[in-house]
Amino acid sequence: MALVTAARRLAQVSLREYSRRSSAVPRGAWQPAERSFTTGTRPLRSDSKVTVHFINRDGEKITVKASPGDSLLDVVINEDLDFDGFGACEGTLACSTCHLIFDEEMYKKLGPVTDEEMDMLDLAYGLTDTSRLGCQICLTKSLEGMVARVPESVADIRQTKDGSA
Ligand code: FES
Repeated sequence: MALVTAARRLAQVSLREYSRRSSAVPRGAWQPAERSFTTGTRPLRSDSKVTVHFINRDGEKITVKASPGDSLLDVVINEDLDFDGFGACEGTLACSTCHLIFDEEMYKKLGPVTDEEMDMLDLAYGLTDTSRLGCQICLTKSLEGMVARVPESVADIRQTKDGSA
C-alpha cells in the first residue's frame, strides 16, 4: 500500500514539474501549430474550377467542371467521357487521337504549339487552322467556358506505323 502511495506522489510531482516547465517556455519558442480552418482570401478549390464544353462527334454538347492545371486529356479521363479512341497514347505525344478543334478566339488563348505537337497534329484527320492536341492544353481560369469540338474521325499514327490500321 505504501508503495502505491509513493508512486502516486511521484506521479503528481512529475506532473506538476511538467506543467511548470511547459509554462516556462519563452515567447517565440516553438509551440505546437494551431489548426485553422479558414482559407483567408484564397478562394475554395471548387470556386476555381473551369467550365469546359465538349462537342462530341455526334454533335452532343457535354459540359464539365475541371481543375486548373489539368490537361484536356485529364478532363476527358477524369469525367469518363466516352470519346472513342481519345487519348490512346496517354499524353505522350505519340498518337494525335486527342485532336480537338477550337474557335479562333479560344485558339489564340491556348498558348504556343511546340514542334513535337505540330508534328503529331500534321498526322491528324480533319486538321484545321485552330486544331490542337488535348493532352498539350492545360486549363487556366482564362480558358473558362471554352468549347472543344471532337473531330468526326481520329488517326492513331501508332497503328498506321505498324500497319494494323
Ligand atoms: S494523347 Fe496521344 S498525342 Fe495526345
